[in-house]
Amino acid sequence: MKGIILAAGSGTRLYPVTRAVAKPLLPVYDKPMMYYPLTLLIQAGIRDIMMIISEKDLDSFRRVFGDGSKFGISITYGIQKTPRGIADALIVAKDFIAGDSVCLILGDNVIYGRGLKRDMRRAAKKAELEHKSTIFGCYVEDPRAFGVIGFDEENRPVSLTEKPAEPASNYAVIGLYFYDSRAVEIAEKLEPSSRGELEITDVNKAYLEAGDLEVTLLDKKVTWFDAGTFDSLVDTISFVRRIQYEYDCIIGCPEEAAFANGWINLDELRSLGEEMSKSGYGKYLMALALRNARNNSTINKYR
Ligand code: TTP
Repeated sequence: MKGIILAAGSGTRLYPVTRAVAKPLLPVYDKPMMYYPLTLLIQAGIRDIMMIISEKDLDSFRRVFGDGSKFGISITYGIQKTPRGIADALIVAKDFIAGDSVCLILGDNVIYGRGLKRDMRRAAKKAELEHKSTIFGCYVEDPRAFGVIGFDEENRPVSLTEKPAEPASNYAVIGLYFYDSRAVEIAEKLEPSSRGELEITDVNKAYLEAGDLEVTLLDKKVTWFDAGTFDSLVDTISFVRRIQYEYDCIIGCPEEAAFANGWINLDELRSLGEEMSKSGYGKYLMALALRNARNNSTINKYR
């Protein structure tokens, strides 16, 4: 399965800030926004990742992520010339996807909580082995700004509506999608919507009509932020700060996720921390490496 992170929008709701810096590179507390979706892809077991970006941001993204080898993954960059819509990313990434199944995640979505990793891995398997696609629904008080899922009496998804005035439910579609190998073909057949974009909702609708769309409702313990406005950005930052202090952990840490997968080793983890030893983030990586080195030596002692 391939992974795609979308980071090529214009970020107009964050003007003037995003005139110089792409929204997904803005800080969400102690790391760039993009670290959060990247971590999720790694947790889902996805190692081959394309970031969809605007050409003007290529150097900045390369400076932050390089070719991905420091995270034990491969990162390539797909240039989207104009933000023609989220579904257009599938077309930009056509050669990269190369007939494989694919997970798409938005570069400005922060999703955190219990059961998410398990649900993502299940969705990846369903796409790879059963040709089923999965979208995720999150309960929100006011779903009118999102894609909304309608259900029948047996809780099966029956409709998907983009930004409805009268929502069929309180379940919004979050920016995380798992598709089987048909996604590119579906996207290529789409017509632009009234706002001139290739809509991801139309891709999801095609799967729904074919009877191949699964909807996973996020556990109540999972929190989802779309950090695309100043207020939601501040809310996201406050959330991350609170959780990190409360649980003495770091959310959205691709190095930790890669280490947990065995994709980077202890020495690599330590040196990534040492490179940033003046920041709390770097110190966290160093402490993680130290803790794991101690655990290993304890295990070896009793072997
Ligand atoms: P949006 O928040 O819908 O769009 P945007 O980033 O351009 O922001 P604004 O509405 O303030 O102008 O996009 C969600 C994510 O998807 C974001 O990370 C950018 C990315 N994106 C693309 O990569 N290409 C696109 O064509 C679009 C529409 C979005």
